[in-house]
Amino acid sequence: MEDIYINKASFGDDFSWGVSTAAFQTEGACSEDGKGASIWDEFTHRKGKILKGESADTACEFYLNYQRDIDLVKQMNIPNFRFSIAWSRILPQGDGEVNQAGIDHYNNVINYCLQQGVEPWLTIYHWDLPLALEKQGGWTNRNIIEWFINYVTICANSFGDRVKHWMVMNEPAVFTGAGYFLGVHAPGRTGVKNFLPAVLYASLCLAAGGKKLKEILPGSVVGTTFSCSAVEPYTSKQRDINATKRADAIINRLFIEPVMGLGYPMADVPVLEGIKKLMQPGDADALKFDFDFIGLQCYTREMVRFSLFTPYIYATLVKAEKRNVPLTQMGWEVYPPSIYQVLKRFSAYAPAKAFYITENGVAFEDQLIDGEVNDTQRVDYLQKHIGQVLKAKNEGVNVKGYFVWTLTDNFEWAEGYHPRFGLVHVDFKTQQRTIKAAGKWYANFLAGNE
Ligand code: NOJ
Repeated sequence: MEDIYINKASFGDDFSWGVSTAAFQTEGACSEDGKGASIWDEFTHRKGKILKGESADTACEFYLNYQRDIDLVKQMNIPNFRFSIAWSRILPQGDGEVNQAGIDHYNNVINYCLQQGVEPWLTIYHWDLPLALEKQGGWTNRNIIEWFINYVTICANSFGDRVKHWMVMNEPAVFTGAGYFLGVHAPGRTGVKNFLPAVLYASLCLAAGGKKLKEILPGSVVGTTFSCSAVEPYTSKQRDINATKRADAIINRLFIEPVMGLGYPMADVPVLEGIKKLMQPGDADALKFDFDFIGLQCYTREMVRFSLFTPYIYATLVKAEKRNVPLTQMGWEVYPPSIYQVLKRFSAYAPAKAFYITENGVAFEDQLIDGEVNDTQRVDYLQKHIGQVLKAKNEGVNVKGYFVWTLTDNFEWAEGYHPRFGLVHVDFKTQQRTIKAAGKWYANFLAGNE
């Protein structure tokens, strides 16, 4: 891989730089001001689901003290801040009565961003489904389309006068795959019988949510975010190449292709044909939506080999630790060209207009020593990935922004607090913040000094 020289100027003035977070991973205050429980509140209190039995009841206390962290965004010269709304703060039961305190809270966060000169970018759904809805089937109940559209409508009407950039959903392949097939994320359900309806109804909500936002806020910029990775066969054996094709269909194609009007990748993954039985007249059209932008979230590369023991896709990921490659705290390979490859590849979907990298970042074993975190590895990771974004841009990909995951160390789902992804270190005992060397580097870069 060639080293690519980057500075802010080489991206042009209209490139959007930012940092991303999510409600459940940062807010804490899990039952404050009338908030209802979410599936993650419930899941984190189940035995054996989260590493070391940790919960996000307090997390980074972003709910109670959002000013402190938005001040850090400003201090690091970051112009755009992406965060999510917790559905069960707005609608404690998911549907029905609105909790005005929840709306007031997000109004305060948005207003504080704007006062600080930081542009708020909103994700409507980042995995924290109201528990009351899960009790009625959650993402496997077709009624979720109505529930979701009601929630989107309230968000658009409440915040749309000040928020220009919207993302309907975060990584649907992950919340359906990990939450409804593998059971390692909330709500912990497993199997094809849960996964297929969750996939279909999440896709329908995605498109319907985009349409609703545009209808209420015609001047807004509406996108959504997808997880994606470069996916390669572990060997050149034909059966590994075929397995890679199947894994790729699930990892990269499952959600974007229906939105683009291409349907589900059933030819490569026949089990998806089960979705046909769930479809109703009009669904094929209802799955399509012309988003203003697609957010891509890329962290690593996957290597795939054939496996007889993995039903349905007969493919397995070869762990990075077995491949003698540089590793992150998540056990993921550090492989910067992946972000270039996904940008090139997704931009080949003809209807897609524009792309943002809405997440990229890394967890390393950070050490706080004498009040400093000297995370040079993270600086290197960010520089190389941003370099690969520039390469794609220079080759004509319409990539219009880059957001680091994430602002502060936070609650990394089933992994708890162990992986530290932040530009800012958090001591979870004291809530003390320390800007890491990577945060200082990003601040300098964004000031145009690098
Ligand atoms: C993607 C998810 O959107 C985010 O919630 C998560 O923390 C990061 N990836 C890192 O795993």
